[in-house]
Amino acid sequence: MKTLEILTPEDKQGIDLPRLLEDEQGAQGKKKLYIESYGCQMNFSDSEIVASIMREKGFATTSSPDDADLVLLNTCAIRDNAEQKVRNRLSTLVSLKRRKPDTTIGVLGCMAERLKAKLLEEEKIVDMVVGPDAYRDLPRLLDEVETGQKAVNVFLSKEETYADIAPVRLNTNGVTAFISIMRGCDNMCSFCVVPFTRGRERSRDAHSIVKEAADLFSQGYREVTLLGQNVDSYKWTSEDGTEHVNFANLLEKVALVHPDLRVRFSTSHPKDITDEVLYTMKKYDNVCNYIHLPAQSGNSRVLKIMNRTYDREWYMNRVDAIRRILGEDCGISQDMIAGFCTETEEEHRDTLTLMEYVKYDFGYMFAYSERPGTPAAKKFVDDIPEEVKKRRLNEIIALQQQHSMERNQMALGKVHRVLVEGTSKRSTEHLQGRNDQNKVVVFPKHHFEKGQYVNVLVTDCTTATLLGEPVLSEN
Ligand code: SAH
Ligand code: SF4
Ligand code: F3S
Repeated sequence: MKTLEILTPEDKQGIDLPRLLEDEQGAQGKKKLYIESYGCQMNFSDSEIVASIMREKGFATTSSPDDADLVLLNTCAIRDNAEQKVRNRLSTLVSLKRRKPDTTIGVLGCMAERLKAKLLEEEKIVDMVVGPDAYRDLPRLLDEVETGQKAVNVFLSKEETYADIAPVRLNTNGVTAFISIMRGCDNMCSFCVVPFTRGRERSRDAHSIVKEAADLFSQGYREVTLLGQNVDSYKWTSEDGTEHVNFANLLEKVALVHPDLRVRFSTSHPKDITDEVLYTMKKYDNVCNYIHLPAQSGNSRVLKIMNRTYDREWYMNRVDAIRRILGEDCGISQDMIAGFCTETEEEHRDTLTLMEYVKYDFGYMFAYSERPGTPAAKKFVDDIPEEVKKRRLNEIIALQQQHSMERNQMALGKVHRVLVEGTSKRSTEHLQGRNDQNKVVVFPKHHFEKGQYVNVLVTDCTTATLLGEPVLSEN
């Protein structure tokens, strides 16, 4: 997720790479937890739930696996190379386990759910395999490991949303945070492993979401991203049946927390995104003008066998609605899959012409990777040769680069309201943040600090970044 989808262009390079933790303050005498997260933003958010559950059990987080009593890898199964990365990482942990045999090693997340107890046989150093809905059971599983056994819980729940658990914010910049609003997915896109690893779709209590957003704002956070595999199908009814909240309603409730709290969301599904959501975005200035709208393909036959349940025309119609209601400058990004089963050259070119039609601001593009057990793996032959997939993928990436540049050039000469997230990665004399459309903006520091909104006149750009000067008189 990170599909998620919630990646900035810079982040994208690290899509399946782990993020490391910072040492927790005041942790002397406590047991230590080291946790590494792979994959989509949902996984990164889940790691914050796990840290919260383990804190109750007396664990503080550490940035070093060597110092840890418990090493957890929160894994992704979306493509074969995501799993390969975890296996490589496990092999690097063999020497640690040899030096410190008492270290418990656990695999969490989607790969744990996909492989279940088989993972214990395949990776001897693993003590514990825990699926995404079983994190409340971690303390008990750990006790089981301490008695010398291996422990597994991959039970998928229809209800678990961890709504009552306050996440421990890991690696936070103190400005932007993610809030899970739902779990699982009921869509069954034929290529996708997520319905199998994350189970049925369920929506979290709307009040707990609004409260989490309000708490974050009072702690100084200025942006929240509402997370789900398909946020547009968010649907929650109160226990007494009197309150019904859909995604547009939820967006409005979170927008009303404070006008200075920016609201983003991801991922939108083209079949479900409604005009009501678009009008809610238009109504509130603090709901960002940016939509991640994965297409996967621009060809209707391919979309049909992918079981995306929309066709090229439907998708274009949704894009037209976005442009009509939110304007030409609304940011739109895509996910595309190159070389899905039976895709012809002509069908691949339909993906390129769809891209020409939309002119996406950015995109996350992948070669098709067959996942065992998915409908596509059962029904179709993965028949596009690797080199053809790669060539098609490169064509998609090259076109996206061109469009990203064109879209960024549209930002030149205009003033953008930027929420500062911290010091620029390239220079300590510069700050970086994002504008309304989710584009990264870099500008000279002056007296500004992270967490502030700064009006920046954009004067230059690359395919990934806007560069500019703060408009000093207005601040
Ligand atoms: N829920 C989101 C996406 C979740 S997975 C949605 O519906 O759009 C993130 C992205 O990974 C997908 O959008 C898709 O582009 C890609 N992906 C998923 N399964 C894949 C596979 N088997 N091979 C290659 N890419 C895949
Ligand atoms: Fe996978 Fe489709 Fe669900 Fe996205 S909507 S998580 S691609 S099954
Ligand atoms: Fe996310 Fe990967 Fe699972 S993309 S939902 S962590 S398979």
